[in-house]
Amino acid sequence: MTAQRPVPRSGILTIDPYVPGKSAAPGVARIHKLSSNETPLGPSPKAIEAYKAAADALALYPDGAATALREAIAARHGLDPARIVCGAGSDELLALIANTYLGPGDEALYSEHGFLVYKIAALANSATPVIVPEKNRKADVDGMLARVTPRTRLVYLANPNNPTGSYLPYDEVKRLHAGLPSTTVLVIDAAYAEYVRKNDYEAGIELVSTSNNVVMTRTFSKIYGLAGLRVGWAYCPAHIADALNRVRGPFNVSVPAQHAAAAALRDRAHLDANFAHNSKWRDWLTTEIRKLGFDVDDSVGNFILIHFGKKKGKTAQDADNFLAARGLILRGVAAYGLPDALRLTVGPADANRAVVDALAEFAKQ
Ligand SMILES: Cc1ncc(COP(=O)(O)O)c(C=O)c1O
Repeated sequence: MTAQRPVPRSGILTIDPYVPGKSAAPGVARIHKLSSNETPLGPSPKAIEAYKAAADALALYPDGAATALREAIAARHGLDPARIVCGAGSDELLALIANTYLGPGDEALYSEHGFLVYKIAALANSATPVIVPEKNRKADVDGMLARVTPRTRLVYLANPNNPTGSYLPYDEVKRLHAGLPSTTVLVIDAAYAEYVRKNDYEAGIELVSTSNNVVMTRTFSKIYGLAGLRVGWAYCPAHIADALNRVRGPFNVSVPAQHAAAAALRDRAHLDANFAHNSKWRDWLTTEIRKLGFDVDDSVGNFILIHFGKKKGKTAQDADNFLAARGLILRGVAAYGLPDALRLTVGPADANRAVVDALAEFAKQ
């Protein structure tokens, strides 16, 4: 007789667990991890100082409302702190939004090469992921609107998108929003917003401020260099902040995370240095790798997507192995529907040069 045992809710066992970027290459002593879109410059020294100072407060629970951090974010971006919700990384917030608004039979819409967490968040709530094909690896607003049904409760849009590096101009995001029912939540995942300084880009603040159904999520993991601490935030209409605050863990952002993130926000010079390093090297990598004959997508993020063919010995998997043997760890993106590509995070100067040299060798062999 088979013993009875607990069974997870429907959908949960269909989740493919998230596989993070690799962080080691067997047998290689010195590696460059260029697989997780972390910043090569690390966090602001002021954030590290605040993190260390927080050691004295570890016996006490954090401020569950993350008041000082929300106020620092509000001051930095000109926002209402009451409408900011902080989380353990923006991953937590993306899941929290799904936990709050999705249930069995509901649909969550996102584009073909969108961030993997959207699918996990939908399935974890027994909702149906609806995946919309992209056009030239860019979210297709008309295609997304065509798939909206009365069951569409959530739309996730990564802007810029990972792993393609593409972005939708603000006019397109507004058009997407205008076509959605007012009962559908549009989540603009702007994890890479700080890397984009373009006239036609808007991270989402304006749309959140002028609507009832848009949430923007942001993170301290990318340009602020605090991925290991796990801090993100969402800017929401008041009624959505209220709902999320009922569902979230009461102490979901730790003491050191709150202090370090607030300090990081105040160090504008460090942010600017990160931005400058990234722009310079992303453009250099794109140009140099294209010169070697590989297709590279235009990217506004801190990473680029490199395309390889299907020819034996020349595939993305072959390139991945070749680079890893030289200590250069990139990210395979087959799980994103891109089996012939690798994603490369912009690294320190020596790693960037090493990748181009290694790809030149790979192209010749
Ligand atoms: C598009 C996108 N959104 C959200 C995240 C989550 O970041 P975190 O949970 O570290 O804030 C990532 C991380 O890779 C991402 O690429």
